[in-house]
Amino acid sequence: MSKYNGDKNDVTLAKIAQKKLNNEKLAMVTCYDSSFAILVDKSPVDIVLVGDSLGNVMLGLSDTTKVTMEHMIHHTKCVSAVLTKPFLCADMPFMSYQISVSQGVENAARLVQEGGAQAVKLEGGAAIVPQVKAITEAGIPVFGHLGLTPQSIHSMSGYKVQGRGAEAETKMIEDAQALERAGASVIILELIPAPLAARVTESISIPTIGIGAGSDTDGQVLVLQDLLGFDHDFTPKFLKRYANIESVVTEALNSYVSDVKSSSFPAGEHSFTK
Ligand code: KIV
Repeated sequence: MSKYNGDKNDVTLAKIAQKKLNNEKLAMVTCYDSSFAILVDKSPVDIVLVGDSLGNVMLGLSDTTKVTMEHMIHHTKCVSAVLTKPFLCADMPFMSYQISVSQGVENAARLVQEGGAQAVKLEGGAAIVPQVKAITEAGIPVFGHLGLTPQSIHSMSGYKVQGRGAEAETKMIEDAQALERAGASVIILELIPAPLAARVTESISIPTIGIGAGSDTDGQVLVLQDLLGFDHDFTPKFLKRYANIESVVTEALNSYVSDVKSSSFPAGEHSFTK
């Protein structure tokens, strides 16, 4: 195979930037394992995020502050092993970039080299500009993340809408501009008023991707398990469910158990006679 065989995945950073210029919305989902990555790969999704939300979704943790580099590398590897079409971004977990710039560059490189990510995502604005600059200068694309930043859950005192009030609005626009100047390629906007997301989007030239940020962003992201309806009881205002997996799985398991108990499974066609 040639050394210059191009990008592993079909969707590149350049194609993402072009889609914004063409006014084509970007569709992004989270994914944490290879069985779902195989299905996502068959869809027209543009970007996959191995989010640190895997702490809640896959590991049963109470919040993302408990997610480690080892968790992120493991799950990014599972996804990158099979993903061929969407662009693959991985989250840098809590305290993997906050301590120093060199720590941030080293850990970003691990997500690329060991995990197979094509970009990394960091939470925060002006405070992390040195890290964003150094990581992008090292040749690793960076996604920013503003608004509700779940790694700061304890200082934010809960999962609340962010960016309310003139001061907070100005700060978010300035943070987005600082991230763009530092080299960020995309900015995620989480749980902010729709008019502010529109203003942030207008104030920068890189794509914005919203979750709970209205429709005037360049794209949308949802947690895969949320959009597939894994949990009937999780009903945040920003979520639209596109399937009801909780019912599908529950009904399938009930039928399986009932068939086993009644000896109707396995039937003749499931058995070997010789
Ligand atoms: O970790 C995650 O899933 C995220 C998305 C919600 C953007 O950061």
